[in-house]
Amino acid sequence: MPNYILAIDTSCDDTSAAVTLGRTVLSNVVASQTELHKQYGGVFPTVAKQAHRERIQPVTEIALKRAGVTKDQLAAVAVTQGPGLAPALEVGVDFAKKLASELELPLIPVNHMEGHVLSVLAQPSPKTTGRSNEKMTPPIKLPCLAVVISGGHTEFVLVRQIGQYERIGWTVDDAAGEVLDKFGRMVDLGYPAGPVVEQFAKLGNPHAFRFPLPMTTTGNYLMSFSGLKTAARKKVEELTAARPLTQQQVCDLCASFQFAVFHAITYKLNKFLLNQKTTLDQSVLFGIWLGGGVAANAVLRRMLRKAIEPYGLSLQVPYSKKLCSDNAAMIGVAASFKLERGEHTSALESGERRPRWQIGEA
Ligand code: KG4
Ligand code: ZN
Repeated sequence: MPNYILAIDTSCDDTSAAVTLGRTVLSNVVASQTELHKQYGGVFPTVAKQAHRERIQPVTEIALKRAGVTKDQLAAVAVTQGPGLAPALEVGVDFAKKLASELELPLIPVNHMEGHVLSVLAQPSPKTTGRSNEKMTPPIKLPCLAVVISGGHTEFVLVRQIGQYERIGWTVDDAAGEVLDKFGRMVDLGYPAGPVVEQFAKLGNPHAFRFPLPMTTTGNYLMSFSGLKTAARKKVEELTAARPLTQQQVCDLCASFQFAVFHAITYKLNKFLLNQKTTLDQSVLFGIWLGGGVAANAVLRRMLRKAIEPYGLSLQVPYSKKLCSDNAAMIGVAASFKLERGEHTSALESGERRPRWQIGEA
């Protein structure tokens, strides 16, 4: 019997269900709540919880239907246990536990960050590509460094083996996507602003305004973006003191701010790779894996490629932009490795939501 997995993710403001088979994505349904949260300029937890409750059942039915898989063909149910918004996680965990228990299936609790890290390994369904996955699935060469950049996280994670992770660097305050969203609010770009900033930046000059490069004196790989946010606020106040921003100024601000955020990331990545190179007892890296909502940004991808090229490393990105932002297919892919390793529980034994669960933590 093929090991079909039904995966659920309700970690933040997207209700998602997917059906996966190993690394192959058979369906990946995402019901976005952006419209509901727009008015608050961010995710409102109780609104998210209510929307997840209303949507989880139909989203799951659609995922099964699109995959052409029935409930009795499933080998396991997987669910994001954390990290994320507690009330949002709760809906997915409760739903998955109930379903696994009804169907007498194992339940696989997955760390949302592990999903983002392994999203580059997902493969499209042969049904959609018309090609066999056997031929196109590349072997996994490890260790790799995963760079996850989203609205909730900005992290470098060393992947020694699938399932063996070490957090190398992270942000001490806001995540990169979060500051792009907050910056977007300052210049009236709506929510979430990240993709809009990318579009406006195309018409702007990334060197028109100079923003500071944070955390340069620390010897570690920690990042900080709140200083950039303050600098942007001051710059916008200064520019708008006399008159409203012109269209060109908005484009220049977007290009310069986006560049500053991404430069702060590539700066720390370069520092890590440089130290790796000069440390004798370290293991060789085989590549850089990029995941998270901000990973959809073409400028970020370009800057990362340029930063890692001198080290002979290539950048691996998920096969579609949908796999970058929150989705359940990445949870299904992570769960398939756990199922292989026998890391699952019965629905009754499984734990509750873990809003602060860090990758690499037991
Ligand atoms: O991974 P994700 O969907 O949710 C979290 O786990 O946080 O990431 C959402 C974040 C938002 O901050 C959004 O503005 C940002 O990803 N984002 C982008 C782009 N697309 C989404 N930021 C920059 N450029 C983009 N193209
Ligand atoms: Zn996420």
